Amino acid sequence: MRSAIALLLSVMLAGCDAGTPPPPAPPPALATGENVYRQTCQACHGMGVAGAPRLGDREQWAARIEQDREVLYRRTIEGFTGTTGTMPPRGGRPDLSDERVKAAVDYMLSKL
Ligand code: HEC
Repeated sequence: MRSAIALLLSVMLAGCDAGTPPPPAPPPALATGENVYRQTCQACHGMGVAGAPRLGDREQWAARIEQDREVLYRRTIEGFTGTTGTMPPRGGRPDLSDERVKAAVDYMLSKL
């Protein structure tokens, strides 16, 4: 009888354990964007290399975010030479899909 109760208890406890919610994860699109950013964009945008606006630097982004987000997407996908330097198409990674490039832009803008 004792062991039956122990068994029942352990089953119930195991059941509780499975119900523990996982740690909060960032929304999937932003998580993708963060990965792409780290692998591709950070090289320039992390420290502001070659005239790239730095991640999280509101001043450097101020005039840029006044533009339509579609303009930012297009320039990131097609490449763009402005007044501070040259943004290579897709950050120099032609294998990245439009969706991944856009997710990286969204991630960068989420940090401002
Ligand atoms: C080789 C360096 C380099 C890499 C890698 C790079 N960028 Fe850039 N990026 C730049 C430079 C330089 C500019 C500024 C161009 C200017 O305004 O003169 C820029 C500008 C931008 C802008 C602003 C465009 C605008 O209209 O003002 C966005 C958005 C952007 N980059 C996104 C990205 C994303 C997303 C990635 C990764 C997929 C990336 N960049 C990778 C150099 C880089």
